[in-house]
Amino acid sequence: MWSSAIKDAVEKIRRNMDAFGTRFPHVSKDGAYLLNDNDDWTNGFWSGLLWLCYEYTSDEAFRLGAVRTVEDFRRRFADKKVLDHHDIGFLYSLSSKAQWIVEKDESARQLTLQAADLLLKRWRPSGGYIQAWGPEGDEKEGGRIIIDCLMNLPLLFWAGQQTGNSQYRDIAIMQAEKTRRYLVRGDDSSYHTFFFDPHTGEPIGGATHQGYTNGSTWTRGQAWGVYGFALAYHYTGDRVYLETSKRMAKYFLKHLPEDHVALWDFNAPVTADTYRDSSASAIVAAGLLELIGHLEDGDPDRARFEQGLQDSMTSLVRNYSTIGQEAEGLLQHGSYHVRGGLSPDDFMIWGDYFYLEALIRMETGNKGYWYER
Ligand code: GLY
Repeated sequence: MWSSAIKDAVEKIRRNMDAFGTRFPHVSKDGAYLLNDNDDWTNGFWSGLLWLCYEYTSDEAFRLGAVRTVEDFRRRFADKKVLDHHDIGFLYSLSSKAQWIVEKDESARQLTLQAADLLLKRWRPSGGYIQAWGPEGDEKEGGRIIIDCLMNLPLLFWAGQQTGNSQYRDIAIMQAEKTRRYLVRGDDSSYHTFFFDPHTGEPIGGATHQGYTNGSTWTRGQAWGVYGFALAYHYTGDRVYLETSKRMAKYFLKHLPEDHVALWDFNAPVTADTYRDSSASAIVAAGLLELIGHLEDGDPDRARFEQGLQDSMTSLVRNYSTIGQEAEGLLQHGSYHVRGGLSPDDFMIWGDYFYLEALIRMETGNKGYWYER
């Protein structure tokens, strides 16, 4: 089943590459991807999909398409186009860092290091965290951290390895630690975001941006935690991050509905119309693959995680993918921002990305672009 799902996905991406030209898919409306000019937080996922397809097929057309996106990311960096946020990690890990990992292109490595330097500028020493959104000194956003940022930390860890400069790693660890202490709750659920006093670093409280309520668990946030802490463990070897990833994964799997694919928030009232977020399940599947790879033989949770992975991916392929259909996207029923009234129940490029990353990792063992292989 995995290989036919991959082949179907690769052919869709090939068609999209021709149809989209130099533009980038973001989320869909009425079944068609909305395209943009590389000015959103999601653009790296398209680049990452093209690198995955290139590595899977060895087809030069995918390589050329992927390299073209990296050139676009170089222009974006030079123009500082919409880079005043923490998602520089998502953007440059899956574009220029992927190019470096796949073909050891030195200019791609340099661009990725510059991107890491830009991300470091969001470190706020007085608060002791990476500011997610908004400019420095922003009245509201100046004190906010968000759980999604865990997936931006691999860029810093990687830059530390490449340069030998410990500052990248030190800041990544401080951010992971802040996230673990303030965003992960005692019952292994999570806040989406948390506010601090930006001047003193005093904790204020948890809040949501895309979840159901401030105290609820937004499923995609929980998913970023599962994968992000597994990656923090990969880079640090600190078992506290492995345990945190495991705790969050158990919570996620335990609270899934019958078809094993997450609703958009674990605390949203459940009716027949409650939206799913298939992207949260795709992220967790990719994260479980990373997590399972770190478990010792005989780990008592291994069987539960392996079963969770099989159940989630089987349901995604059978019930949510567009396999065998004429469609632009790979995965249906993602929810971007239900609370904000944006694009519920549509294709989302990060859902497609993590779905294909997980499928390819299951089929070939290719670990993607979050770290050096
Ligand atoms: N990182 C933004 C989102 O997950 O919607």
